[in-house]
Amino acid sequence: MAMRETGVGAKATGDGCRVCAGRTYVIERQGDQAQARVCVCSENCSICGGRGHVLVEREGVYSKKVGPKQYEVMEPCTCTRRRRRVAIFNDVRMPGVMAHASFDNYRAFNEAQDRGRGVAMHFGHQYVKGATSKGFILSGPVGTGKTHLLAATLGHLVIEMGVRARYVEISLLYATIRRGFQDGKSGGEIIGPLSEVEVLAIDELGKGRGSPFEMETLDELIARRYNAGRTTLFATNYSLEPEKKQRPLSPTGYRTTEDAKAVVKEAELLRERVGERIYSRLCEMCTFVELPKDTPDRRRTRQEMDTLHQPPTGIRGAAR
Ligand SMILES: Nc1ncnc2c1ncn2[C@@H]1O[C@H](COP(=O)(O)OP(=O)(O)O)[C@@H](O)[C@H]1O
Ligand SMILES: [Mg+2]
Ligand SMILES: [Zn+2]
Ligand SMILES: [Zn+2]
Repeated sequence: MAMRETGVGAKATGDGCRVCAGRTYVIERQGDQAQARVCVCSENCSICGGRGHVLVEREGVYSKKVGPKQYEVMEPCTCTRRRRRVAIFNDVRMPGVMAHASFDNYRAFNEAQDRGRGVAMHFGHQYVKGATSKGFILSGPVGTGKTHLLAATLGHLVIEMGVRARYVEISLLYATIRRGFQDGKSGGEIIGPLSEVEVLAIDELGKGRGSPFEMETLDELIARRYNAGRTTLFATNYSLEPEKKQRPLSPTGYRTTEDAKAVVKEAELLRERVGERIYSRLCEMCTFVELPKDTPDRRRTRQEMDTLHQPPTGIRGAAR
């Protein structure tokens, strides 16, 4: 018996579900990783009746004489695609604390953050599976939502488009490779899958000791992706500026100790951390977004807000 795909206008599974808000899947923290699962509301598929595939009617012309002919093909049902995407999401190895991250719940406190979200969303929405696409790099102080935007972007690519993606925090990658050495694994065994995955997000770029081992690992990973024209996204705490900004001297013409300390801090350029070769590749591979130093740290502001809204102990509920 032929079954038509219900298509547009059909009531999708998940409608009105309070657990997934109609998304049909749920992303939650499981240990140190964010994991996706199909929501209970969508486990039993009403479209294919649990078969996992549907017959779709197509029209094709094989000969001018016969003219257009209707035929039916077997296609994976939306429920099959959903299950596949959930499985792909679980291969991303996204940090557990990022399970909630989406474009919708990202707040911009300044223009740069607004641009950052815009760049990430634009990247996600214009992305074409399998085609070379320019990535982006987010630079800024801690707690400004850089990892949040990486996670939101990967989530979009995987769940909405079925793109294979991976997330790595660079210093954890170095540690994993070092541990691998002890088990007789070569660095290439770990680098291999990361250089081949369609989209890779490298977090905390520039972090680490800057040892020759780390620099070579990073160089190999980025060079391989660059040569293959693969898309890579980055986040870093280091400035993307190509040159150090010269601090004006104090009116006395001397540098105060405070100034001197600030100069040392400002010397944290990504270009110096990763070297010329990698930096110049980043320029080609990515759109640059730099969040200013005074962008508020959400971890801190949230905590301050929490303490502000906490009524003094003892008078809770006594106001009315
Ligand atoms: N602009 C923002 N809008 C919404 N949530 C944010 C924002 N910035 C940070 N957060 C939240 O604060 C926490 C820390 O953010 P994170 O992305 O890890 O910061 P960063 O990677 O820049 O250090 C996360 O829970 C994140 O979701
Ligand atoms: Mg981060
Ligand atoms: Zn649901
Ligand atoms: Zn189905």
